Amino acid sequence: MTQHDAPSTQGFGIWTAYFEANLARHDRLDALIPWHSVSPLPAADLAAIARSLQRFELGESGDGTGLLSKARRRNNPGYDWALRLFVAEEQKHSALFRAALVRFGTEPLSAHWTDGAFVALRRMLGLRTEVALFLIVETVAMEYFAALGRCADPVVQGVARRILTDEVEHVRFQIDQLRMGFERTPRPARLLAAAAAWVLAVGTATVLAVDHGAAMRACGLSPVLFWHRALRHFGRALPLAFRLNREETPFGPSAQPSGDRLGRAGRVPARV
Ligand SMILES: [Fe+2]
Ligand SMILES: [Fe+2]
Repeated sequence: MTQHDAPSTQGFGIWTAYFEANLARHDRLDALIPWHSVSPLPAADLAAIARSLQRFELGESGDGTGLLSKARRRNNPGYDWALRLFVAEEQKHSALFRAALVRFGTEPLSAHWTDGAFVALRRMLGLRTEVALFLIVETVAMEYFAALGRCADPVVQGVARRILTDEVEHVRFQIDQLRMGFERTPRPARLLAAAAAWVLAVGTATVLAVDHGAAMRACGLSPVLFWHRALRHFGRALPLAFRLNREETPFGPSAQPSGDRLGRAGRVPARV
């Protein structure tokens, strides 16, 4: 990341307003999760889902220190604040997973190699690349959350649908940041960056399919189908994020962020 990469980080007020309004929406949605319901799933499926949630709980629990300190160098308080609110939403996801683990009687993990690799990669890289990694993980994971959102366990279903409503918007947030980050980057360099991101997305989808395959199957999704759908979601975001098309929108949150409902029955929207 060089000075040349610094985007015009103005215009993030729309995101700050979205994240701030989300605080009340989260409270309403969290109240809809039936924490005390009895699970109809067999013990083996619950164990597979609990192992999977443990890894996601760990992945979402970071305090964003590295990301926020890189962002501060851009000297744009509005952008900093939007990122801070984004990190806070991720920490809420971690808390929701933790609450689900308590229900399963499972302890959170203190370390896992997939999280360690992701954190190490992020620390080595600049802000723009770190945001690209978030875009990869979030687009790829949406299909996993959608599968959990169709799971027969009411708590897993509620938590996953609640988180999916955020992740759909987070993908747009990352695209907004990347579009500005690549504002002054020549097309050949953007193509190269997009190709590298595609390779990483394929690797991420593969690791997720292998590492969380048992949980996916417990929720009725084959890991192979997950892999195809996950890359299709990333493929939709890629040309927008890397400015490979002429379209100048999304940007900002979607026109109708999910209101007081826990999303549509575990579906990822067909458009970014
Ligand atoms: Fe998240
Ligand atoms: Fe997210």
